[in-house]
Amino acid sequence: MTKIDVTVKQGRIEAERAEVLVLSHYEGESALEAQAAKVDQALGGALRGLLTSREFQGKRNQTALLHTQGKIPAKRVLFVGLGKKKEARLDQVRQALGTAAKRVCQAGARSFSTSLPGPLPQASAIETAQAMIEGAILGSYRFTEYRSNNSEEPKPLGHITVVEPQSGKLKDIQKGVRQGRASAEATAYVRDLCNHPANVMTPSRIAAEAKQIAKERGVRVKILERRDAERLGMGAFLGVARGSHEPPKFIILEYMGKARGERRGARGKNDEKHAKPIVIVGKTITFDTGGISLKPAENMEQMKADMTGGAEVLATVRAAARLRLPLHLIGILPATENMPGGRAIKPGDILTTLAGKTVEVQNTDAEGRLILADGLAYATRYKPAVILDVATLTGACMVALGQFAVGMFGNDEAVKRRVQQAGLKAGERVWEMPLWEEYFEQLRSDVADMRNIGGRGGGMITAALFLSKFVGDCPWIHLDIASTDWSERERAYISKGPTGIGTRLLIQYLLSEAER
Ligand code: BES
Ligand code: MN
Ligand code: ZN
Repeated sequence: MTKIDVTVKQGRIEAERAEVLVLSHYEGESALEAQAAKVDQALGGALRGLLTSREFQGKRNQTALLHTQGKIPAKRVLFVGLGKKKEARLDQVRQALGTAAKRVCQAGARSFSTSLPGPLPQASAIETAQAMIEGAILGSYRFTEYRSNNSEEPKPLGHITVVEPQSGKLKDIQKGVRQGRASAEATAYVRDLCNHPANVMTPSRIAAEAKQIAKERGVRVKILERRDAERLGMGAFLGVARGSHEPPKFIILEYMGKARGERRGARGKNDEKHAKPIVIVGKTITFDTGGISLKPAENMEQMKADMTGGAEVLATVRAAARLRLPLHLIGILPATENMPGGRAIKPGDILTTLAGKTVEVQNTDAEGRLILADGLAYATRYKPAVILDVATLTGACMVALGQFAVGMFGNDEAVKRRVQQAGLKAGERVWEMPLWEEYFEQLRSDVADMRNIGGRGGGMITAALFLSKFVGDCPWIHLDIASTDWSERERAYISKGPTGIGTRLLIQYLLSEAER
């Protein structure tokens, strides 16, 4: 994905020399927003004309484009609707800017200028600016790496200018823009990794990406090879890897952020945050064929995105480092393919996990929980403040929640509430599911400590309950993103195909932890 520059400046929007001015409007409001009113005046009432003719009403994501005929320095004005004012939420700002960014590109422009919409209920200038930038960057996302002829595609967006008349607001807007860029670029990075096919995005390539991220300030990487994993006893991870010719990689990234005070030389009040890290673990199956329990052919190509969790962990560590968050963060990616083959694990095989528990593999397609069992057990060794795992874990998640909610499980009420809040803020909402011990009877095995499938009913729950047996007494959250990781259609700022959903939620969670 191409990089989009963002400038924040003090100025008058009507005097802005731009390819396109993007202005927003709430549905049903007769008065124009302050910024739009100034532009309208300069244009001799052209914007009002659109409203009175009802050509443009300000409905959600509605757009109207007009040429300014030299009346103002900007060449065109793009009007975009925010929907009804009393229903307006931060996510509508993301959607409006995503829609606008697409429209700007369609018009052949490569840049636009805009300003903050009038204040939203319960949203600060920081949050609003962040949402605008997220929407614009993600709305204009495209993956064209493998297209040999690019000439027919619209040129990518290159520059956004945020114009603000009041100097007092600039600092907040700059902060929002910085956060918005970090979280949107992280999401776009995840989409890129997931869009690359599995013959490119192998476990080795994921390890190379991790090494690249370790060049960021404060980040270190460790990559465990097959023999290292053998020595440690990661029987579940290695079991899944057996069918593949691609060498598995167990990847650990560590980011040691300085506490805010420490950066200035003094010891900060957040110092003890270094003692107990936050650990994030991502399912990193670079392709899931199902193994010997082979999946049907239809849509199997989507299983190239079965490494979304791992990609989100990479992107989140990178974003934390770029934002210099005062946190101690560890990312863990058990990375392997799940393939059938002469040496592949078979239904009935028993694996000994890193935690020492034995698992009867009744279905080799339930591989995510196997690699995560070892990933989570490894995470507990850090005695973390909290472990979060992200995984495209179950088809049942998709059945239960459809496309708009991430499945959340956890053993700590306070952390669950904080993750829920972060999801709400990020516009990547989670829905809590039960983690009740009763369901464990479905995981009982006749020959081992447990089996890796829970039979009919509650498939998302039994998968989560399986994972819970590997976190010891650490506070832990599990996010099943199989519902949201792939979109069948293009939306305002959610791309068709891999969506990267979960990334902004994780980053938002870290941002709020850093400020707690
Ligand atoms: N990666 C899949 C889950 C998945 C399915 C993600 C569709 C995204 C879209 C996972 O490894 C899997 O195959 N799960 C099985 C588990 C079953 C065998 C218990 C499933 O959900 O069918
Ligand atoms: Mn599977
Ligand atoms: Zn899978």
